[in-house]
Amino acid sequence: MAPLDQTRKASPKADTATRLLAWYDAHHRDLPWRVTPGAFARGIRADPYRVWLSEVMLQQTTVEAVKAYFRNFVEKWPTVEALAAAPAEDVMKAWAGLGYYSRARNLKACADLVAQRGGRFPDTEAGLRELPGIGVYTAAAIAAIAFDRRAAVVDGNVERVMTRLHSIETPLSEAKPEIRALVEKLVPQARPGDFAQAMMDLGATICTPKRPRCMLCPLREDCSAILSGDPERFPVRLPKDDKPLRRGAAFVAERDDGAILLRKRPEKGLLGGMTEVPTTGWTARVDGATTADAAPFPADWRRTGQIGHVFTHFALELEIFHARITDDAPAGHFWSPAHEISGEALPTVMKKAIEAAIPGATKKPSPHSAKRPA
Ligand code: ADE
Repeated sequence: MAPLDQTRKASPKADTATRLLAWYDAHHRDLPWRVTPGAFARGIRADPYRVWLSEVMLQQTTVEAVKAYFRNFVEKWPTVEALAAAPAEDVMKAWAGLGYYSRARNLKACADLVAQRGGRFPDTEAGLRELPGIGVYTAAAIAAIAFDRRAAVVDGNVERVMTRLHSIETPLSEAKPEIRALVEKLVPQARPGDFAQAMMDLGATICTPKRPRCMLCPLREDCSAILSGDPERFPVRLPKDDKPLRRGAAFVAERDDGAILLRKRPEKGLLGGMTEVPTTGWTARVDGATTADAAPFPADWRRTGQIGHVFTHFALELEIFHARITDDAPAGHFWSPAHEISGEALPTVMKKAIEAAIPGATKKPSPHSAKRPA
């Protein structure tokens, strides 16, 4: 990004950033990965490891959902070296329930690489972009928040704020370059990391998708959507295609001692490397079988219900079957003891499937993971 033109100090744009930072000083959210506003100027630096970890977790996931996972990760693995030394299995288990599991694999690959290079994260957007799992947004966020670089950090919250400030009528999918250019102009020379976080907090707490609290907004004087009387209209979106609905079946086999039969999914693809109960062969594009005769082995399968789960590109409905089994685990499967289930790397859809067959089975605390996130 080109250096900011200092002669613009008295312009409305500079005022916008200044007003936003003053609001952030008073109203910022306290988040476990943050240092207090203005800390950088006092020589206090956010730990790049914590910033990176939080930003990867926050990709596609809400702040509320991330908090407990973040605390659990930094307690288990306080440094990038500690995360690099951890077995990949343990990292996947700690990630289970956060979704988008390729992020966890990339997280581990990135930690390994950074640790090999002496444990220091690159301090520029370009350097960060070369690491696994770090795209345009995440590189900009880390560069700004951890290293106070003047980077344009544009997430969904920032897009909403900018499309309202400027009443951008172009549909959001096509307006991204325009939004980025406007953010680049707005990023101040001083405190760009706080500015990035302030924009996100403004979008999350004031400039909300529904019923924005414009009366409390520090940028209301600059906002052209307020004048239109209908700020909720922005960002303009093209009508969405409905997600296809896929079907399949899941088979929850239980031993008399409460152990559940599990297997690991292939490393590549949807929920790659995560743990599952046996299911029929549904994918984002094809349905799987939905009846008990499609079970991976014969047993007294009884239907216990149906669960639904929404993935990014499709919705899934699974018929759930339950059976009591006394046999050894078939090839490629393993029995997970009742007290270990909550600590397995089970994605949310699989937890739902197990709960539909054996209520409470995924919630029993594991002795090995006493402080797991909810
Ligand atoms: N969403 C993504 N990153 C964030 C951050 N650093 N602060 C607040 N919300 C965020």
